[in-house]
Order: sequence, then C-alpha cells, then structure tokens
Amino acid sequence: MTIFNNNNKAPSINAKQNLAADIVEDSNPTDNTEFHTIVSQRMNRRTVLKGGTGLTAAAFFGALPLTGCGNDDSSSNNGNGGGAKGDLAAVPASGDLTRPEALSFTAVAHSTAQQMSVAEGYKAEMILPLGTPLIAGVEDWKDNREQSAESFEQRMGDNHDGMWFFGKDGSQYNPKASDSGLLVMNHEYVNSDKLSPFGYKIIEDKNAAPIFQEQRLASDVRREVNCHGVAVVEMQRRTDGKGYEMVLGSKFNRRITSATEAEITGPVAGSDLLKTKYDPTGTKTRGINNNCGAGLSPWGTYLTTEENFLGVFGRGQDASKLTDAQNYGRERYGAKEDFASWGYKWHTPPAKDAKIMDEFARWDMTAVGATALDDYRNGFNTFGYITEIDPFDPTAAPRKRSALGRFAHENCAFAPVAEGKPVVFYMGDDSRGEYIYKFVSKANWSNSDIGRGLSAGDKYMNDGTLYVAIFNADGSGQWRPLTHGQNGLDTTNTVLPFNDQAEVLVFARAAADVLGATKMDRPEWVSVSPVTGEVYVTLTNNKYRGTRDDQPVDSANPRSYDNRGKARGNDNGHIIRWAEKAGDHAATSFDWDIYLFAAPSDLSAENLSGLDNNNDLSSPDGLYFDPRGVLWIQTDDGAYTDTTNCMLLAALPGKVNDGAIKTTSAGQSTRLGMQANEQNIKRFFVGPEGCEVTGITMTPDFKTLFINIQHPGNAWGAASDGGTPRSATVMITKEDGDVILAESFAKPATT
Ligand code: FEO
Ligand code: CA
Ligand code: CA
Ligand code: CA
Repeated sequence: MTIFNNNNKAPSINAKQNLAADIVEDSNPTDNTEFHTIVSQRMNRRTVLKGGTGLTAAAFFGALPLTGCGNDDSSSNNGNGGGAKGDLAAVPASGDLTRPEALSFTAVAHSTAQQMSVAEGYKAEMILPLGTPLIAGVEDWKDNREQSAESFEQRMGDNHDGMWFFGKDGSQYNPKASDSGLLVMNHEYVNSDKLSPFGYKIIEDKNAAPIFQEQRLASDVRREVNCHGVAVVEMQRRTDGKGYEMVLGSKFNRRITSATEAEITGPVAGSDLLKTKYDPTGTKTRGINNNCGAGLSPWGTYLTTEENFLGVFGRGQDASKLTDAQNYGRERYGAKEDFASWGYKWHTPPAKDAKIMDEFARWDMTAVGATALDDYRNGFNTFGYITEIDPFDPTAAPRKRSALGRFAHENCAFAPVAEGKPVVFYMGDDSRGEYIYKFVSKANWSNSDIGRGLSAGDKYMNDGTLYVAIFNADGSGQWRPLTHGQNGLDTTNTVLPFNDQAEVLVFARAAADVLGATKMDRPEWVSVSPVTGEVYVTLTNNKYRGTRDDQPVDSANPRSYDNRGKARGNDNGHIIRWAEKAGDHAATSFDWDIYLFAAPSDLSAENLSGLDNNNDLSSPDGLYFDPRGVLWIQTDDGAYTDTTNCMLLAALPGKVNDGAIKTTSAGQSTRLGMQANEQNIKRFFVGPEGCEVTGITMTPDFKTLFINIQHPGNAWGAASDGGTPRSATVMITKEDGDVILAESFAKPATT
C-alpha cells in the first residue's frame, strides 16, 4: 500500500493528521546477518539462458494433469460432471503455453497524464470502481458520498489490490473456463478524506486519554471497516466476445469486510495469545484487514493477505500490566504504548454509537480488564495472516492460516505442485528490513484435491514447516525453520521466550530474528516462473538501507545512494530471484541473484540493468508470471513520478546466474542478472497520475488482463466531471480479440 509510506504524494487522510505520510512500519531492532565484510567469490557460471529459448511452461508443468493446450475457450464441460475435481490443474491450462521469444508490442512512453495509456492495439477500460453496487436495489455511487456506511456491505470497497479470476462452469470452479468466472479482489485500505460525506472529520477532546484525544464519527469508521476486505464478483463474457460484465445480483457476489467473522486455524488456534472478550476460545475474530497482494491455492481457493493491520489498532498505556515478552511481542510488530493507530482511529468513536458488540473497542489493544477475556488486548494477534476464502462457497467463513506465520503479509505464491510432493508457498513481509518466508506442507499433494475448497486448505495449510530466508554473499542461500524447540526457538530465548509453536508463529518476526534471517528492502510480491521454477520477489525500496546502522548494504540489498538529492538508501528498488537446490521447492538451500535493478535510465550509476526510456521503472511491487512464463511487473512509486506515473511492464527473464558480478556505487559486490533490452522487458501500460498500479490476473484463455488502480489523482474514476476520484479495476483486451501479447507469439521462433 502507498498511503503510509514515502512512495506517493497522494495523501489519503487529511494531512493535518500528520499521518505518518512517511511511515512504513519498521520495527526490526535486531542486528541480523548483514554483510559487513564483502567476500567476492568466483561465480559458478552456468549455461546462460537467453530469452528462454526452448523452454515452455508446458514442459515445466509436465507433472501436472494439464488437459490440453488448445485455443478453445473451454466453455465446455471438463468431462467429470462440471466440477473441477480430479482431472484439472489449478493453473489455467488452455491457450498456447509457449513463451514468446521477444516482446513485439510498441512500448508505452513515460506519462504524467491524468489518463491511463496502454500499448497500441489494446483497449483498457475502467470497471468496478469504489462503491459499485453488487446487488440490485442498492443505489449507484454518487460523488457526494452520501451512501450509507452499511450499504458498503453490498458495494465494491476501496483501494482495489491483489485479485484472481476463477473460471467457472455452472456453479463450480473450472480453471479452464473463461466465459464465466468469479473475479475476487482485495480492498486494501481506504482514502478516508475521499470516502465520507464529511471528509476526514475529527472531534477533539483534550481531556481524553492520549489515544482518544482525536475521535472519529461512528458512521465514518463503520464505512471504512466495510470498505476493507475482499469482493467476490461474478463476471460473464460480453456478447461480442471481448471483455466482461459484472453479473449484478449473482448468488456469488459477496463482500467480506473488516467486520466479517473469520476462523483461525492451524497451530495458533486456541492459543491464549488469541483469546478475547469476543471469543474466549481463541479460534475466531471479526474481520480481515489491509488485504494487499493475493494468491491462488493449487486446489482453487483465494488466498488473501493481511499486511498493514498495525495501522487500525490503538494502544494506550498498559505496559506495566504485561510481561516483558508481551511488550516485546507488540513492539516487534510496531505497537508501542500511546500508539493511536495510523490515523484510522477506529477505536475512538463513542461506545454508545456501537451497533454490534464492542464495535469500536475491539480496535483498542490496551489491556484494560482483569484478564484477556475482559478486553481486546489480543485482538491485534488475530490479524496478520494468510487467509483462505472459497469464492464458490458464499456462506463459508474465511479461514486464517496461522501455520504460515503472522507478519505484514504482502502476497502468497505457490510453487508448481507435483503428485506426492509437499505444497510450497512463498511470502514476503513488507516492512523495511523484514524477511522472506516459505511454508512447506506436511501433507503431500494429490491432484484429487483440486476443487475441494477449504477442506483441502485444512489439509495443506494447517500443518507444515515455516522457513525464513538467509542470503549469503557468495550467491548461496538457506532456509531456516521456525520450529519451536530448534535453533534457540524455546524458553531460553531472553528477548522473547517461546513457550510453544503458537508463540513462534504469532511472533514470527522475533523468531526469524533469532534464526539470523537477512533483512530485505521491503519484500513485496512473490511469483514463481512456470518456465524455470525460479522464485522472484520485488524489493520495492528502503530508505534505511545504508543509512541506518542496523541496515547496512549487503550483497542481496546492495544499493544505497543519493537519488538526485531527494532521498537516500535504495530509492528505486530491485527484484531478487533464486533457484531452489536441485529444483526442489522443499529444499533448504538455494542459489540467488538479482534479476533486475530498477532505476531511472539516466541515473547511470544506479542503472545496473541497462534500462532505457522504454523499460525503466522505479519501485517494483506487483509481480505475476502468467502461465506462459511472461513476467508482469507493476510499480508503486514516488521516486520517479516527476517523469512518469506508475506502470505495468512485461518481461521475459532468463535464469539465476545469467549475468555477472557487479559492484554498486555503494561499493558493494553483488550478483547481477542478464542486462535488460527491449526484447526482454518493455512498458505495456501507464496508469493515471497519482495512482499505484497493482493486482493482476489473466483469464484462462489469455484474452483478458485485469489490473487494479489504487488512489488515482484528479477525478479519475469519478462518477461526474471533476468528482471524487475512485480506485477501480482496469480490464485490458486486445482490440482484435486475440490473446494478450499475441503479436509477440506471432513472431517466428528463432534458434
Ligand atoms: Fe500493500 Fe506492500 O503493499
Ligand atoms: Ca508498495
Ligand atoms: Ca498496494
Ligand atoms: Ca504492494
């Protein structure tokens, strides 16, 4: 998200609140492995792969039960009664799975325009903006913003983010179907001052306790709670065959908000750390929150994330009522005493205005009662999880999967599955100096679980091993397990004694500290190449890199520089990647390099990847390998926006160690991937001024690409001229109705 970091000049809440315009939560106090001593080692050069010649996703997915690579639209039944069980891969499988040899579209130029621009031959349409009714009978959004807070339980929420298109046959999941589908997306946060009819209204009470001195209106908080979460929207292909329309009133249309009851599953369920006045069993909470990037499960459910949940909680003065370990656990996640939230102040409306039990008090984590069952001190611990939703089961509660750890989850990407092997998920913790994780399931994969919904999630996501990544200077890396009783993760740890696995997972950051994990430059999205099986992570930027003693440059985070006098640190970000040992995603070691350094092309000392005007970028964030192996990169930037708005690029990466050893301007040796050129990375789309481009999914026939636009400036997305700008989805199709990037596939392959 942008509003709480230094990436974007569009404030979402009245600047008068001095709203942490510069805050990305950074509460890592440790001095973990940072490579003070640089050891330059000879690179183990491998066969250089240029542009992926000869590799196809089909080859990579060979172990999967792909059911055909034709160009049909798969509107027909898959042969097993309409369900998806048993004979289909969860990855989209229709269409041409051969990767293009080169990118042939004409690059989109830098733009600071108020409107979006897309590559020639393509059409980009805004759909599903904030406030769009999902059922009949709800009045349309109006720019006066007078829609009731409650009505947002039936409308699109704010700040559309990660999403996935689930193909549908009848009422069931079919990963090959494109005529009909469920578009499921996150609503990450709210632009408060553009959501309420009153703007960002504050009532001052100088006599109140510090975290209550600025109080908000109950209706405004309720509206904001309802504008967070997830939307499920049924989409059907238009009669002209190009693009989609929402099915108003579909039985699948659904909002899950920061008030919807969710179950907590896995090792943390039932722990004392989660018990609250609302749920003394420690197995339930109300709401999912700050849902950022998204993921798909191999069995066909939606994985949403909880990222900056810190920002909606308040904490008063209660340290004296808590143990040192309890205090440390909170502070390691950013919640110090007298923390009044990030301006949301959801805990502040008068209790008398609550319409459900403790509607506002539940956002106050202060220990005020006699025990944890008398207050919401543990409410904070019920957020920060990968959360599974079955879009095909509209009545099922979301399940928070605690085995995958609690931190500022950005997204969740599964490695290609193989029968009889564990299921592996990769994840990043997006804060400055936080870590990269993976989860390896205990249960081994069976193709028969495709389409089995949350019960498959129970099988694969509740039991397994969570690991954290260590990047060594020599290009090797290790995964260390966050397992109670191993490597000091026990009661002997003096900073935070770990009593059990639940404590390790709830305070995963503190456990990863103990393991010596490598502090990264804000890990954002993860995606796994279907061509090489290598794993890519955007490291969006980090102003603390090289500027704070606890985050010196290291080989995996090797840049720190003065960006034209505007900022220091790693201002433009990079994309790291690795290959698991022997191609086994459950392995505990890997080889890594840096696929791409983002930079303005004229910032020559930092432009290590050789970008030019047609492919330079800053602050990579969203990341998505489509099933053909094309890598899509999105930006959430503030460092280069004087030259260009945020964007979407297409890329054809090689593989780890296809480049050279390089020394950065900070004097740090690093491992740089193959140089960029206009065949292997190119700008495809530029968003409207002020926005972030995020969230991406493609239909199984590859004919429609959906992306999201957050917090646009000016009046982009407004219902009336000059009205309230709104976040929305953008639907991109080829004007001739062909598949996305068809012009690149049309080029004859060369050897
Ligand atoms: Fe929600 Fe880290 O972006
Ligand atoms: Ca970001
Ligand atoms: Ca975002
Ligand atoms: Ca992001």
